[in-house]
Amino acid sequence: MTPIQECLINKSTKVNPVWLMRQAGRYLPEFREIRRSNPDFIKLCLNHTLAEEITLQPIKRFGFDAAIIFSDILMVPYGIGQTVKFKKNFGPSLGTIDLNKIQSVSEDKFTENLLPVYKLLSNLKNTKDLETRDLIGFVGAPWTLLVYMINKVSPKNGLSQDFFKDKILINEILNLLDRFIKIHIENQIKAGATIIQIFDSWAGLIKEDFDKFLYDPTLSLVNYVKNLGVPVICFPRGITDYVRFTKIVKPSMINIDYNVDPEHLIKSLDIPIQGGLDPKILLSNKENLNNQIRKYLEIFKDHPYVFNLGHGILPETEVDMVYELVETVRDYK
Ligand code: CP3
Repeated sequence: MTPIQECLINKSTKVNPVWLMRQAGRYLPEFREIRRSNPDFIKLCLNHTLAEEITLQPIKRFGFDAAIIFSDILMVPYGIGQTVKFKKNFGPSLGTIDLNKIQSVSEDKFTENLLPVYKLLSNLKNTKDLETRDLIGFVGAPWTLLVYMINKVSPKNGLSQDFFKDKILINEILNLLDRFIKIHIENQIKAGATIIQIFDSWAGLIKEDFDKFLYDPTLSLVNYVKNLGVPVICFPRGITDYVRFTKIVKPSMINIDYNVDPEHLIKSLDIPIQGGLDPKILLSNKENLNNQIRKYLEIFKDHPYVFNLGHGILPETEVDMVYELVETVRDYK
């Protein structure tokens, strides 16, 4: 059994597994080098040879307990036919939605569009580096994908009221997402994913209709993953009530963001917890980093806990600080 499965399934408090959200990415010089000669991000995600190399880069360097596939949550909108581009120093930019077009995509065509992602997983499954580690597949939650599909760019300044004006469009997209995200999950599990993480990066923007946008769609996916016999981690970033979310949605593990008070949480929850550390701490100094890491490990010493961050690692993070993080977690008694 892998260290994370020990924690997730056996509820062991004796292991301190560690991996980092967005561990395969821009803070790594070896990733930036590949990226320089591959300007088209979607193409890079669909190049299974390079994607395999990128997935394994952080494993080779730091020996994390899990590899997360190099891909993106926006591969689902791409797979159903919406244009997705990534602009330098800007982020994602999606094309106008043609509802007729995306509604007519068959399940086979969707799978065909994303075949390199599944090939990536099946190749990784057989690599020596992953014999003792988990291989994490992932999806964006319906809400976060809806946000990108309609808003078309990251909603850094929130959503306008306009966002909600076409109720029919919203409902059609949510139905479509439920169907295709499930196909993407099933394909990833069949190809070798041992855990699925659901990223709801913009969950904090939901101000009303929590059942419709947060609880119902996430519960539908969580039940689906569990029925396939694989653990599922939820990351509803920025919501105010993680306890309520966890009680309703019942993921196998909950990833907390850095605004969550972990002490309050363990009093109310008995499921394994992951994450929490503010990624900005990695931009400070080693002493501060060590203190903050130990704070989390101390709080969780009698609770199944996977060390991770409260959001993705920042591109400006120095590699040295990541070595320090891993060492501190591993040395903690
Ligand atoms: O975790 C990993 O290392 C695996 C790969 C991974 C990527 N994106 C690669 C990537 C994962 C798990 C994601 C998830 C993702 N993608 C999320 C959810 C997690 C989160 O951070 O909130 C979101 C919201 C996206 C959408 C997305 N993709 C954005 C907003 C951006 C641009 C800004 C950014 O965060 O990097 C991307 C591009 C992206 N996805 C890059 C990588 C390595 C950077 C590409 C580059 O510019 O070189």
